Amino acid sequence: MFIDDIINRESFTLEDIVYLLSISDKLHIERLKNHAYGIMKQYTGEKVYLRGLIEFSNVCINDCYYCGIRKSNHNVKRYTLENDEIIDTAKWCANQGFGSLVLQSGERNDEQFIEFVENTVRKIKEFTKSDILPNGLGVTLCVGEQSRETYLRFFNAGAHRYLLRIETSNPDLFSKIHPDFQIFNRRIIALKSLKEVGFQVGTGVMIGIPGQTINDLANDVLFFKEMDIDMLGMGPYIIHSETPMNAYYDDYSERKREIYKLSLKMIAVSRIILKDINIASTTALQAMYPMGREAGLMFGANVIMPMLTPTHVRSEYQLYNGKPCIDEFTSDCFECVQQRIESTGRTVAKDEYGDSRHYFNKKFS
Ligand code: 5AD
Ligand code: FES
Repeated sequence: MFIDDIINRESFTLEDIVYLLSISDKLHIERLKNHAYGIMKQYTGEKVYLRGLIEFSNVCINDCYYCGIRKSNHNVKRYTLENDEIIDTAKWCANQGFGSLVLQSGERNDEQFIEFVENTVRKIKEFTKSDILPNGLGVTLCVGEQSRETYLRFFNAGAHRYLLRIETSNPDLFSKIHPDFQIFNRRIIALKSLKEVGFQVGTGVMIGIPGQTINDLANDVLFFKEMDIDMLGMGPYIIHSETPMNAYYDDYSERKREIYKLSLKMIAVSRIILKDINIASTTALQAMYPMGREAGLMFGANVIMPMLTPTHVRSEYQLYNGKPCIDEFTSDCFECVQQRIESTGRTVAKDEYGDSRHYFNKKFS
């Protein structure tokens, strides 16, 4: 099989990646999946690492054309959780055994917000210390583009991982799905600042953006490689009906299956090429198909982010239609998550940070 020649290469060209992303017959997809799984096993192990996700605020200054909580969507009731509620959730997260936490919100750059995040991180680190977690929970931030100084403040407060998606590495496509004030190059600069400050840096893209080609996605994978990223979180683009991009697609339901498969292939190909990074199997995959997150794990992902956002605000953090967990009254508890993951044959890490091996491998090589 020609695919075997490609997946075993040491370096990959754009054409190689386009080829891998284009395969469609079952046998070849199975081959790609198994190879990615093998690489994952070799470079990161088979354990799945958990990060409890707290979406602590939906207030946002950005206006991305695809996102349900964009500032121009006036149907959204805006909220910011109280510090105490975040800390309580963090304590619950630590007690459950998740080991790490992701604090996500809409983007804001005002001093009040920056201080709020800084204080929250500091308190989480302090209040989740135990014999099992002597340094408290691992903290990942996902609060958008900030200045280098702000990133340094967050880092000094105790956050050590940061997620900032590029959404697409094609600047023209980026400008089609964002208003003019959101600038591609500024995001690149932010990613570089995060790295300089010392964070484990994660990025990612949406798959199935209207107008996006296989070539774009192949370039995305090369972009991840070139940026030498430590973590990756990608997922399918899903329509939100109250956004301008709602009108961009007229055949989304017909393409849904293809976009889903493409998302899984992106995980596998990224694993094969980037090897020792952490790759998340995202909620958007689960939103498309109920077992989507588990499928992501089979294609080479090794991180899952159980939903810990307090239930009374969950319905106000709808980035896209059909986000799971909205109507549930309980959070993803450790046992539920564990059961689902173990059904795929994987084990779950308890009380572990599960840092990106890539970050340490490159630091000490
Ligand atoms: N479909 C899929 N992902 C989305 N995001 C925002 N809106 C959507 C959507 N409609 C993703 C973006 C962002 C992350 C927080 O959520 O990639 O970076
Ligand atoms: Fe940009 Fe929500 S407004 S992702």
